[in-house]
Amino acid sequence: MARFTRAIYPGSFDPPTNGHLDLIARGTRIFDELIVAVLRNPEKHPLFSLEERIEMLREVTAPLGKVQVEAFEGLLVDYAAERDASVILRGIRAISDYEYELQMALMNRKLNPRIETVFMTAAESYSYISSRLVKEVHLLGGDIKDLVPAVVQQRLKAKVPV
Ligand code: PNS
Repeated sequence: MARFTRAIYPGSFDPPTNGHLDLIARGTRIFDELIVAVLRNPEKHPLFSLEERIEMLREVTAPLGKVQVEAFEGLLVDYAAERDASVILRGIRAISDYEYELQMALMNRKLNPRIETVFMTAAESYSYISSRLVKEVHLLGGDIKDLVPAVVQQRLKAKVPV
C-alpha cells in the first residue's frame, strides 16, 4: 500500500536562495507534502524577520503546490513529530557541509529514531550559494540576480540600499 510521506525542510532562510528553491522543487517530486520550516532565531539577529522570510518563501513556492511554509522553534524533531512528518530533508552542497549535517542527523536520530534525515545534493549550478554569501555580496555592491529569486533581490535592495 502506498504511504503518504510528509517531509520537513528546515532552515534559517535568511534569505531564501535559488539553492533552497531548487531543493524544495526537487523535494516535492519525492515527497507527498513538504513543510518548509523557518527557524525562529532572534538570538542570531537575522537580517529578515521571521514574517519576512515566511512571506518570501510562500511567494516563491506558491507555484509548486504541495508546499507549506511555517515557523518553528524548539527541537526540530519535536516539531516534526507534532506535524506528523517522518522525514527531515537537508541539502548538501559540498563535503564541508557533511560534517555538520551528519552531526545534526545523528543527534536528531538519537532524539527521535522514527524520523529519518534524507540528504539531497544541491544542483551543481547552486552549490556555491549560501544565504550568508548572498548577503555579503549584496552589502558590498555585487550582483545577486542569479543567486536568489527576484522577490528576494527586491526585498534585499529595499532593506539594504546599496
Ligand atoms: O539553515 P540552517 O541555519 O543551517 O538550519 C539549521 C537548523 C534550523 C536545521 C537547525 O539549527 C535546527 O534544527 N534547529 C532547531 C533546534 C534543534 O532541534 N537542535 C538540535 C538539532 S541537532
